[in-house]
Amino acid sequence: MKSPSTASSVFFSKFGLRHVFIALTMLLAFGSVTVSAGCKKKKNKVTPVCDGTNATYNSTVKSIVNANCVSCHSSYSSYSGLSGIISNGQFNQHVQVDQDMPKDGDLSADELNKIQCWVDAGYPEN
Ligand code: HEC
Repeated sequence: MKSPSTASSVFFSKFGLRHVFIALTMLLAFGSVTVSAGCKKKKNKVTPVCDGTNATYNSTVKSIVNANCVSCHSSYSSYSGLSGIISNGQFNQHVQVDQDMPKDGDLSADELNKIQCWVDAGYPEN
């Protein structure tokens, strides 16, 4: 005859693991919700529209990037350091489209509009 402890260990090996797994999955799901809610709240996204600024990296974008990006991405302090994310589209994707960079804050609509002129013009350096 089986002892109660054997019966319960059979029960846990058969069903318990699945429940632990479900509980962990839920914990992860809710955990990540909590993590994103804990981040500094981003403003609502805006649709950047070029405001007519004749924007180049040197005249317009450099100061914005230096003030808002270089504290975390030190390589973005020069045009050549930015060129990788310019050419692979990541600059436009994160800053203008998703607007999830800068990670710890927001660019103003005015800044986004000026940067949009630069994007539209093909990211000129000068
Ligand atoms: C507070 C720190 C911080 C600031 C400020 C910041 N970033 Fe980021 N950035 C990160 C981190 C960390 C990642 C890695 C992905 C993630 O965690 O979202 C990242 C990822 C990226 C990526 C994706 C490609 C990659 O290198 O992984 C791009 C592009 C980017 N950042 C651009 C910018 C630009 C442009 C600015 C300024 C407008 C900026 N970031 C400001 C922290 C920052």
